[in-house]
Amino acid sequence: MRAERCAATPDLFAAAADAQDTVPLEPGAVVLPGLALPQAEQLLHDVAGVLAQAPLRHLVTPGGYTMSVAMSNCGPLGWTSDITGYRYTATDPLSGRPWPALPAAMATLARQAAARAGFDGFTPDACLINQYSAGARLSLHQDRDEHDLRQPIVSVSLGLPAVFLWGGARRSAPVRRIPLSHGDVVVWGGPARLHYHGVLALKGGCHPLTGEHRINLTFRCAS
Ligand code: SIN
Ligand code: FE2
Repeated sequence: MRAERCAATPDLFAAAADAQDTVPLEPGAVVLPGLALPQAEQLLHDVAGVLAQAPLRHLVTPGGYTMSVAMSNCGPLGWTSDITGYRYTATDPLSGRPWPALPAAMATLARQAAARAGFDGFTPDACLINQYSAGARLSLHQDRDEHDLRQPIVSVSLGLPAVFLWGGARRSAPVRRIPLSHGDVVVWGGPARLHYHGVLALKGGCHPLTGEHRINLTFRCAS
């Protein structure tokens, strides 16, 4: 993530700072609007530190497609992909070094969000950092490379808004469009753990904290 900032804008996000609501998507899945707002600047500071050690990169899928979303990781395990498949690794394939440690503020938020959604004791060992620029998108997919599917996924949105696609257990199920703003957190697990989801192509814009990007942090228990 680059540290460029936009011209000062009215604080459009403050209104949601006290949001304590939980918006159910369906059993096992909730949106927690604004939950990450109080920590957003700390989180982005921590993300910048991680990316200084493990830079963003555009991974190639087993199908040979170069992903439009730029990715990196922190934590004991990191999600990666190349022409041979998707997997979690303990080291960054670019450097051969272990992925940067999971910053404490990130781990704490993930645990709190999971608990708020009814998943106590969540201890993520992987955080995928996704950076979206204008036009970047994530097609419908399941998160299914983790061993313990009893553990939820915690997904934190920072920076530019996006439209999250929330489908069902089958790819063909109807897909809902869920607008996600800076500070929103989505948690899915239990009966919704393998539901298809994705992100529509990001609209261009400028956010005071992330410039022309959306940053998504996806916490998983992968081992
Ligand atoms: C993901 O599915 O890994 C990311 C979802 C998001 O960017 O909101
Ligand atoms: Fe995903």
